[in-house]
Amino acid sequence: MADVTVRAPAKINLQLEVLGLRPDGYHELAMVMQSIDLADTLVLRASADAAIRLNCDNPDLPTDGTNLIVKAAELLRSRVGLPELGVEITLHKRIPIGAGLAGGSSDGAAALLGLDALWGLSLGSERLHGLAAELGSDMPFCLEGGTQLCFGRGERLEPVAAQRLTERAVLLLKHPQANVSTPWAYGRRRELRSDFYLDNEADFEQRRQALRHGPLLAALAAGGPLPPLRNDLQSVVAPEVESVRSGLALLRRGPEALAVAMSGSGPSLYALYPDLPAAQAAQAALAKELDALGFASWCCRCGGSGVSLVTDGSPP
Ligand code: C5P
Repeated sequence: MADVTVRAPAKINLQLEVLGLRPDGYHELAMVMQSIDLADTLVLRASADAAIRLNCDNPDLPTDGTNLIVKAAELLRSRVGLPELGVEITLHKRIPIGAGLAGGSSDGAAALLGLDALWGLSLGSERLHGLAAELGSDMPFCLEGGTQLCFGRGERLEPVAAQRLTERAVLLLKHPQANVSTPWAYGRRRELRSDFYLDNEADFEQRRQALRHGPLLAALAAGGPLPPLRNDLQSVVAPEVESVRSGLALLRRGPEALAVAMSGSGPSLYALYPDLPAAQAAQAALAKELDALGFASWCCRCGGSGVSLVTDGSPP
């Protein structure tokens, strides 16, 4: 069989609201996530032995059993009861690591989709979604992509009608030396804010309804100006991470954007612009300061899809 190639795009959070704590220890969330066209690529090749092997062009990324790609392959193989299946996966890493852009989750979701094709399993989207939710809270979103409301731990998806968002683009920043651990960010939020957490399903549902029918969704549907974006982790991460404060300040004093925010648990930051040329103009206008502060930056379009097969293993 020919190689299977899968594209694994990153996401940003347009909204991340922490509602409360769940009995399973996770936080109950109300989010809006958006795919962007910064993407990793996975190339999957069937192997003759029963090994699951991962190679990556970025030496900073572990390629052992802690990597979500390897976890996804092991889970999939054990669930279908075919321990003899093997694969050699090459990951071309472009999404920055530990950035709040769901790079690891998107790679894991891409592995599920690609292995389903490579191993001829035809599991269907419902089963893949279930496996994705077991592996990580953001993984179901990474399978679906586009613009979605994400509730529960993040795994309960509702598509959002978003006018013109695919024309829009972001200037994305990440400081190479800054990393934020997601469990740390949620733990810190809990430490500082748990007195204000909601604690029952009726209140959670009220907040979901407020988001479904609130100004952000109305603005996304109409394609008009956006209200200020909310990320409840930004207020706990910014005081601890200097580059988050300096990056947000820089994006705010740059060419006027539709919105400026941190993505997920950070430390990546973005400014949203009406289109790619506007994001590129902002990057050029800020180039000297970005350089002086040591930020890496990318201009990316908002994307319409999650992980996707580039080649499905059929002979050319
Ligand atoms: O689900 P995932 O493994 O991606 O989550 C990583 C960590 O982030 C969890 O172990 C937990 O500490 C935190 N988390 C949370 N509530 C969520 C999602 C993640 O507390 N809804």
